[in-house]
Amino acid sequence: MIALGCDHGGYKLMQEIKAHLDALGLEYRDFGTYSEDSCDYPVYGKLAAEAVASGECDRGILVCGTGIGISIAANKVKGIRAALCSDCFSAEMTRRHNNANMLAMGARVIGGGLALKIVDTFLQTGFDGGRHARRVDLISAMEE
Ligand code: RB5
Repeated sequence: MIALGCDHGGYKLMQEIKAHLDALGLEYRDFGTYSEDSCDYPVYGKLAAEAVASGECDRGILVCGTGIGISIAANKVKGIRAALCSDCFSAEMTRRHNNANMLAMGARVIGGGLALKIVDTFLQTGFDGGRHARRVDLISAMEE
């Protein structure tokens, strides 16, 4: 189950992402926002992040205008490693090295075609573990 969260700046791209996930037969829970009316990205970043942190969802995808605000908000939730990506290499490496559990993107930064490739890369790539697990554990220890 994939948690989705966006603000008004990310709303249109999130509809493309949902259609893509539907086509792939991947389940998601949409925590909003549900229109292009102006809203506050921390609200939706927090809702989606809490669903990932609780284990209700395995991964999360976040979109706002830049991807910056919503990723900052999500990363305030304990257990969340939200990675802002604008390219497939970063999406691959943040899964392999950081075990990122949420992907954030900026709808005013990248186009829909690239965004969907980044989503695919993020969802298809596993964590390398090994020395990277030690480093991720050090990040988690900062939350204690
Ligand atoms: C909304 O105008 C915009 O500030 C928001 O989508 C995001 O880019 C914030 O980081």
